[in-house]
Amino acid sequence: MDQDTLKASVAKAAIEYIDVYLQSDAIVGVGTGSTANFFIDSLAEVKQRFMGAVASSDATEERLKAHGIPVYDLNSVDELAVYVDGADEVNESLELIKGGGGALTREKIVASVAKNFVCIVDTTKCVTTLGSFPLPIEVIAMARSAVARRLVGLGGQPVYRENFVTDNGNVILDVHGLAIDAAKEFEQTFNSLVGTVTNGLFALRPADVLLVGTSEGVQEKTASN
Ligand code: 5RP
Repeated sequence: MDQDTLKASVAKAAIEYIDVYLQSDAIVGVGTGSTANFFIDSLAEVKQRFMGAVASSDATEERLKAHGIPVYDLNSVDELAVYVDGADEVNESLELIKGGGGALTREKIVASVAKNFVCIVDTTKCVTTLGSFPLPIEVIAMARSAVARRLVGLGGQPVYRENFVTDNGNVILDVHGLAIDAAKEFEQTFNSLVGTVTNGLFALRPADVLLVGTSEGVQEKTASN
């Protein structure tokens, strides 16, 4: 089974998983990336059952609107019952690396207000230790070199993501060479670097539920500690 087939299958399973939240007054938080895109396409099939969505990126907003799903500004929404998004890596504690698509900041904001965070991945994203996937860090452009030097001091190898500007007008450093064994501490340390907007670790607010697309079907997991 190829990776796209696994992504499509886990996206469909997510629709079944969030069935209970699909009420006439419900707003669904929607992530960004190719797995999230499969989810949006499946969500469109049940769009009459809920009120609308909050998008975690301009690209997601565009895709939702193309399907005729109303998109709300997060500032006008009191509560999100559920947020569904993909990830670049996930460990047994459901801590994540996100931001491969550069939408980490808005994704983290939407995840922070959601009561339930459902992460959807194919099996290639599951790891024992986070960090093989370079950790994306969104940085204010003028602080790029200063933050990069601090990251080298912390043992990382930051690489400037060329020709990429986030939806918030900032730049991304992808940090290679990290073995992230204490993800909450790493997340706090990277957040404290002046000039940093957000880092792609989702450990202080991990996923609540993980759905994994495998060739044997979709597995549901909760944190193992
Ligand atoms: C975007 C993200 C994505 O969730 C992550 O990159 C996974 O993407 P994909 O589903 O395309 O593999 O964090 O910022």
